[in-house]
Amino acid sequence: MPKPKVYITRMLPERGLKMIKEHFEAEIWPEYAPPPKETIIKKVANVDALVSLLSDKIDAEVFNAAPKLKIVSQIAVGFDNIDLKEATSRGIYVTNTPEVLTDTTADFAWALLMALARRVVEADKYVRTGQWKVAWHPEMLQGRDVYGATIGIIGAGRIGFGVAQRATGFKMKILFYDVIPRPEIEKEFGAKRVDLDTLLRESDFVSVHVPLMKETAHLINEERLKLMKKTAYLINNSRGPVVDEKALYNALKEGKIAGAGLDVFEQEPLRIDSPLVKLDNVILAPHISSSSYETRSRMGEMVAENLIAYFEKRTPPNLVNSEVVKVRPLGGH
Ligand code: GLV
Repeated sequence: MPKPKVYITRMLPERGLKMIKEHFEAEIWPEYAPPPKETIIKKVANVDALVSLLSDKIDAEVFNAAPKLKIVSQIAVGFDNIDLKEATSRGIYVTNTPEVLTDTTADFAWALLMALARRVVEADKYVRTGQWKVAWHPEMLQGRDVYGATIGIIGAGRIGFGVAQRATGFKMKILFYDVIPRPEIEKEFGAKRVDLDTLLRESDFVSVHVPLMKETAHLINEERLKLMKKTAYLINNSRGPVVDEKALYNALKEGKIAGAGLDVFEQEPLRIDSPLVKLDNVILAPHISSSSYETRSRMGEMVAENLIAYFEKRTPPNLVNSEVVKVRPLGGH
């Protein structure tokens, strides 16, 4: 039996790649930068499987060019770059890499929060650029206490839950907003479910953990930023378009909020001429929240496990469009 063919849009961590190569005839886009859409379209013509990243737009155009495509295995928990409806209607399975990255991503939200509150990035710059001229004085680089402050978590799914867990260690008051009740976070951490406006008004730290969907695009907009305290900080390591970046820039520049920690942007990579780059009250990171050696390696393995399961006629462990089995039952290709 010939091995099924897979096209992989970027080099994967070693262990996952090795697993894939054992089971598949694999072709890999060799560069760090994503392949152009035309390349993906050309490459999928003859493949059974595709491994994608969140920066690859996988839509009807790609599916139309891929008559043999059976599964898209995405290396990320989010999959807003994949047109799920179009995949499902064609019987194409779509998988992701959830859970393994939950704590790593919550850790990074926490890193942004702590660094913002205690001005860690500014402090580093202060020392390196020779601004540290007096040994100590009471007003030098004052920040805000995290301990005992109020955190507002927007989206209390797995990652939001992880952030709440970290907040309890700092004796924080925890508010959350979610369209789903999430009693587990109330029970475990004494978090209080509130409406979005209340959360924004009352929180010292607002941390965003919703997936990008029609309903969450620009969820944090000019009006909502206005509700936040002048001393409050915004942290976003979900998806850039959840926050209206222009409105955020204005709020930061005009001192309507104290600062922001951002790992995601409306356009990635963030252009160096973005006005955000000029602000000192922002910490910018290049979408690395799940980037630990351990987690990225495990994500690579999960990509392989999902593919292998499918071709062994088992339900892939991280199938996101479960209704696809009605369109094309396992082994139905
Ligand atoms: C990264 O942003 C992911 O969705 O895993």
